[in-house]
Amino acid sequence: MSAAPEPEVAVVWAQTPDRVIGRDGTMPWHVPEDLAHFQALTRGHPVVMGRRTWESFPPRSRPLPDRTNIVVSRSMTRTDEAVSGARAAGCLPVPDLDSGLRAAARADGGDLIWVIGGATLYEPALETATRAEVTVIDVAADGDTHAPVLDDGWRLESADPAPGGWHATADGTRYRFESWYRVPPPTGSDDTSPATQTEGA
Ligand SMILES: NC(=O)c1ccc[n+]([C@@H]2O[C@H](COP(=O)([O-])OP(=O)(O)OC[C@H]3O[C@@H](n4cnc5c(N)ncnc54)[C@H](OP(=O)(O)O)[C@@H]3O)[C@@H](O)[C@H]2O)c1
Repeated sequence: MSAAPEPEVAVVWAQTPDRVIGRDGTMPWHVPEDLAHFQALTRGHPVVMGRRTWESFPPRSRPLPDRTNIVVSRSMTRTDEAVSGARAAGCLPVPDLDSGLRAAARADGGDLIWVIGGATLYEPALETATRAEVTVIDVAADGDTHAPVLDDGWRLESADPAPGGWHATADGTRYRFESWYRVPPPTGSDDTSPATQTEGA
C-alpha cells in the first residue's frame, strides 16, 4: 500500500504595507472583497487557527462553514470539560500546531490545509508551508499583531492586480491579492532574485 501524499500547507492573511494584521483582537479595516477571497480559498478545506483568532470571529460566524475548524490552544485542551466546551462550540481543539496539522490532514479536503492565523501560528507554520496568500490592504493602521516576513526563501508568483496596481472597495480602500510560493531548493540555477513583501520594493 502506498503512503498518502503529503498535504499542501498554505497560510493566508491580510496585512497593511507595514505588516499589521490585527489590533485589539480584530482587523483594523473592512474589505468585504478580501473576506470573499478568503472564503473562496479556504472553503472545503480544513482551517487551523490560534485560539485568539477563533475568538475574533463573532459567535454567529463560527465555526466557519464547510471547513473543519481546528483551534490550537492550551487552555481549550487542558481539561476534558474545556475540550467538550470547544467541541460544542463547533471546533476541534488541539494542544499544538503539529497536532493541528495532523488532524487537518485527516479532515475533509485535507490535501490542502490552511493556517489562518494569527501571528503566533504563522511563524511556525511557515516552516512547513509552501504557499502564502497575502492580501495587501493599503491603509496606515496601528496594530498589535504583525505578519511574518516572507524572506528570500519565498517568491511572489502572481499578484492581482500586478505590483503597483490596486483594486478599490466601494469606499475607496485599496487592496491587492498576492500569491507567494516557497522557492524550490536550487537545482543548478542561480536565479535568486525574489520580490519582497512590502511596498516600494
Ligand atoms: N489580518 C489577518 O489576516 C488575520 C488573520 C488571523 C488573525 N488576525 C488577527 O490576529 C490577532 C490574533 O492573533 P494572535 O497572534 O494574537 O493570536 P492567535 O495566534 O490567533 O492565538 C494565540 C493563542 O493560540 C494558542 N497557541 C498559539 N501557539 C500555541 C502553541 N504552540 N501551543 C499551544 N497553543 C498555542 C494559545 O491559546 P491559549 O491561550 O488558549 O493556550 C495562544 O494564546 C487578532 O487581532 C486577529 O484579528 C488577523
